[in-house]
Amino acid sequence: MSWKDIPGWFEEDGAAVYADAVRDAVPGDTLVEVGVAYGRSLACLGEAVIASGKRLRLIGVDPWEDTPEAFGGPEFQTMRDEFGGFYDACVGNLTLHTPEVARNVRLLKMSSKSATMVVPGPISFVFIDGDHSYEVVKADIAAWILRLAPGGVLAGHDYGDAHPGVKRAVIEAFGEDGAEIVGSCWRVGVIK
Ligand SMILES: C[S@@+](CC[C@H](N)C(=O)[O-])C[C@H]1O[C@@H](n2cnc3c(N)ncnc32)[C@H](O)[C@@H]1O
Repeated sequence: MSWKDIPGWFEEDGAAVYADAVRDAVPGDTLVEVGVAYGRSLACLGEAVIASGKRLRLIGVDPWEDTPEAFGGPEFQTMRDEFGGFYDACVGNLTLHTPEVARNVRLLKMSSKSATMVVPGPISFVFIDGDHSYEVVKADIAAWILRLAPGGVLAGHDYGDAHPGVKRAVIEAFGEDGAEIVGSCWRVGVIK
């Protein structure tokens, strides 16, 4: 039973980014994932938090909007429908495959923008994997960077040519070489 049993888009490169975030966090810190979908990546982060033994607050943010077609397409349809909806599929996957994570995570069913106003600090890490459009990634970076504690890390998924909006927003915010690229992820340490 592990995060790898949950369907989604997250692989070892992202797991390495999460491992570093947990290693660098200190007790009392908040770690945020924006864009949870079916729970795969959040389960990975949660497993790292639990393995660390540190008292960290783990928050997953997603509107989990139910649409006629399951998020991600037909291959997710049966699973989503069996759980009874998008949000329930996430909760169900976490509970089935990573029960300890399910007990230790707080899920915020809202947009990233709304979450920036309610997530408690100090926030040491935010991972942006929500709406991949240029406008929203740009807005996510601008909003979450203000919420990060000094020395915090802002990172995200799907940096590459398949998601030009992500790449453009990251380059605009941090410059051509401003973000470290880890596989399909980008990462920036924020000094305040
Ligand atoms: C690519 S998926 C996330 C995948 C997940 N992190 C994984 O690796 O399995 C993108 C998610 O972002 C969510 N999303 C869309 N707009 C959002 C917003 N404004 N704020 C937060 N999440 C959003 C979608 O509902 C979807 O679940």
